[in-house]
Amino acid sequence: MKKLLQLLALICISHQVYSQDVSVENTSFEEETGIAVPTAPIAIIPEPVSLIKHTGSFILPRNVSIQAEKTPETKLVVDYLQLHLSIPTGSFITPYTSSLTPTIKLIINQQANPSLGKEGYQLTVLPKSITIKANQSAGLFYGVQTLFQLFPKEIESKELVSGKRWAVPCVDITDYPKLGWRGLMFDVARHFFTKDEVKLYIDAMAKYKFNLLHLHLTDDEGWRVEIKGLPRLTEVGAWNVKKVGTFGDFIPPTADEPRTYGGFYTQNDIKEIVQYAKDRFVNILPEIDVPGHSLAAIVSYPELSCTPGAETYKVRSGEKIMDWSKGAPPIALVDNTLCPANEKAYVFLDTVLTQIAALFPFEYIHMGGDEAPINYWQNNSAVKALMQREGLKNIEQVQGYFEKRVKTIVESKGKKFIGWDEILENELPANTTVMSWRGMKYGIDAAKKGHEVVMSPTTFAYLDYMQSDAITEPKVYASLRLSKTYEFDPVPAGVDPKYIIGGQANLWSEQVYTIRQAEYMTWPRGMAIAESVWSPNAKKNWATFLPKVEQHFKRLDLAETKYSPSVYDPIFKVARAADRSVVVDLSTEAPGLDIYYSFDNSEPDRFYPKYTEKLSVPKDANTLKVVTYKGKEKVGRLISMPVDELNKRAGKR
Ligand code: ACM
Repeated sequence: MKKLLQLLALICISHQVYSQDVSVENTSFEEETGIAVPTAPIAIIPEPVSLIKHTGSFILPRNVSIQAEKTPETKLVVDYLQLHLSIPTGSFITPYTSSLTPTIKLIINQQANPSLGKEGYQLTVLPKSITIKANQSAGLFYGVQTLFQLFPKEIESKELVSGKRWAVPCVDITDYPKLGWRGLMFDVARHFFTKDEVKLYIDAMAKYKFNLLHLHLTDDEGWRVEIKGLPRLTEVGAWNVKKVGTFGDFIPPTADEPRTYGGFYTQNDIKEIVQYAKDRFVNILPEIDVPGHSLAAIVSYPELSCTPGAETYKVRSGEKIMDWSKGAPPIALVDNTLCPANEKAYVFLDTVLTQIAALFPFEYIHMGGDEAPINYWQNNSAVKALMQREGLKNIEQVQGYFEKRVKTIVESKGKKFIGWDEILENELPANTTVMSWRGMKYGIDAAKKGHEVVMSPTTFAYLDYMQSDAITEPKVYASLRLSKTYEFDPVPAGVDPKYIIGGQANLWSEQVYTIRQAEYMTWPRGMAIAESVWSPNAKKNWATFLPKVEQHFKRLDLAETKYSPSVYDPIFKVARAADRSVVVDLSTEAPGLDIYYSFDNSEPDRFYPKYTEKLSVPKDANTLKVVTYKGKEKVGRLISMPVDELNKRAGKR
């Protein structure tokens, strides 16, 4: 005990020294005293391939020198490191030092270790120096991301944090990704997000080693990219009526409601976003979603439709335009498809894709292909004539014909064609890449036929789904908790892994009105996806992942990035007892929490009844209120569950 007190006193003294005099040069407390200074638990997401922790730690000095070769690629990493280190620490950074004892060494060594590939790195932290080695600059960038996660959480601060000891534990890390395509999709069509908001999204994803941002640029609610020569796409197609509430059920707008809600990216905006992403080793995949989801284009240029009356259509403002009650494909209430039998549609796409191909350097263009309704095509004389002329036997083959033509256009621009899995409902050549969204099945089937596949299944990777109880979340069709997301394995057994080129999660934005909500929906599930697409399966472990996520919550707080605390929220399971009364089973995703509750309409805290066994709902109760604690700390949100809702969930009385 005496020894422990001495140790604590020493640590406190050392803390004061560093707090008061941040100009202290790289003094190694450990070396002087032989006592290891505690650092926060190591919590790297995604989990590296190999991590060996040594005793001792590196303390960031006031003057930091960075050794690196002066190439344009390495400069991106040096600039990033300089900016993100200097803001919170106030350290003075000298890049490209000629010092023989640099603080941080960034070394590109193509021969170093072939197993590191294009994006892997080796990070060595010693008491007096940090070295990151990689074959290419992307690897250095990911080494820097790992290094930041080894620093105290305050490294995420957007302003100077004075008096902090910037200690990094001594480690040896070797790391490289499982997949080369690690994506997040951001739907900027249903709701528009500004250029600066997209940049914020990129900043956050780069920290978790995502390297691809898929921008869903067009849909029924908006066309978001300037196309020269087609001005109506953004003069008309980018604007609808501002509404809030539950998207999809809105009252159809009246003719006099202003269509001023929305926006678009100019071509210069796109160039700026692409460059911003590239500087963070993120590619941008543009999606132009056709033939369905095309109402904004049709409203702009009604001649792209073959349905009479299309010129009266309006860009959707969240009112009902599809009937999904009979499942897929939906019954369209307005025809939101480009006409496959109309040559003008292909001329239009040629113009659009010429410019999209020039704006986005990434090798693929995503052409959508999902959820195209068939009811208008079935009754259309031009489509019937097309079927006869081309020998198409059914409407699925009509979409197949359309996809082949679009693929040819994409390829004529020097790009590869990728689309949602519906594009394969008809045979397409093996060089068609598929994004499997309706579960893993379509991706597995496609890979077995020799197609390249990006897995982004609803089952694990739909970030628009609710992550907590529906009572607390904006309503969407389905739920997807963090623990389920963490089960995502983009490379399923029984499939040749060479065909699975990537994994990604998708954030559709029907119910997402703000960037804060986009962040909330993305994190922490994005962390689970990051680990699923980067880390070896053997390194994935829910029990160790969750405490890391909790550490990262504190980092996100400092980075001012919103996240969902749903792992702390109660999970309600409801059943009926033999006497038909409702019985409630409560649990949480995070272990070790205490759940407190009330039925008397007051707000429970940790002095209220603690949940220990299934609850029987008292006869006259009208609300069950629940909150969770970790020891004395309130961690969960107060959830108010109406007894009527419990009754509904429990089924027939
Ligand atoms: C999709 O979710 N409709 C691709």
